[in-house]
Amino acid sequence: MTQRIRKAVFPVAGLGTRFLPATKTVPKEMLPIIDRPLIQYAVDEAIEAGCDTLVFVTNRYKHAVADYFDKAYELEQKLERAGKLEQLDKVRNPLPDHVRVIFVTQTEALGLGHAVLCAKPVIGDEPFAVLLPDDLIWNRGDGALKQMADHAERSGGGVIAVQNVPQEKTSSYGIVATQGFEGRHGRITGMVEKPKPADAPSTLAVVGRYVLPPGIFDALEATGRGAGGEIQLTDAMAAMIGAGRPYDAYRFQGTRFDCGTHIGLIEATIRFALDHEKLSEPARESMQRALDDLGVADNA
Ligand code: G1P
Repeated sequence: MTQRIRKAVFPVAGLGTRFLPATKTVPKEMLPIIDRPLIQYAVDEAIEAGCDTLVFVTNRYKHAVADYFDKAYELEQKLERAGKLEQLDKVRNPLPDHVRVIFVTQTEALGLGHAVLCAKPVIGDEPFAVLLPDDLIWNRGDGALKQMADHAERSGGGVIAVQNVPQEKTSSYGIVATQGFEGRHGRITGMVEKPKPADAPSTLAVVGRYVLPPGIFDALEATGRGAGGEIQLTDAMAAMIGAGRPYDAYRFQGTRFDCGTHIGLIEATIRFALDHEKLSEPARESMQRALDDLGVADNA
């Protein structure tokens, strides 16, 4: 697998129940950080890594995601007539010209592994990326997926993003065991989905960025239901690793925000605001005011 990845899969069929009632009508991938929806950050990261084909695995309730990447004629006309050219540019070009989008429907909510399997007909026989838009990764240099794709090109195997988590949090993640690390990467020897802290092989958690070999589809087809009664991507990767296929864990440079949780979304908003050209100063002042008003500044 020394090919460069060109295709990226975005599983976006989840219900987003943690963010109800907002997600009653707005898919969680469309929740904004400042003025861009989460999905846009993940898409930009995939394009930066070299992907030109974006595959969204969606369900019948997620029209907003397809609409977002479609042309909005009426809105464009209105902005043009009003001379709002800066805003017009923002809605006119959600994607560069060389990038195409494909929508695939996941008819049953059978888990992440099943969602990835739904993309099989459009991926074919080449390595590809999977990005979970809930995991937002902030970095001043190369994006996390680009770092991983560069490594995958050298290693020729699968590459999984990882980061350390507190022991008591292992039951929220896929957890990997490695032979040890050489710089940012380490060969994976085993992987388990959401283990109890006492059973976790390490505290290295899988983050939602993957570079996968096409063999993952056969492995997924052979995978039964695992944790939570779902078809788990982790189980299919673990089976391949057990059969001697190379997968590396990759400790990417950057900060990951779990925007599938309330606090993660808040943290991401704060970070992006503080790093924003126009918002940095007012955001800092506003945070200070809020701390002062609530009388918590002295304890911070
Ligand atoms: C999924 C994966 C898990 C991974 C996590 C990262 O779980 O199954 O292995 O650690 O994403 O965000 P989910 O959070 O969708 O339950």
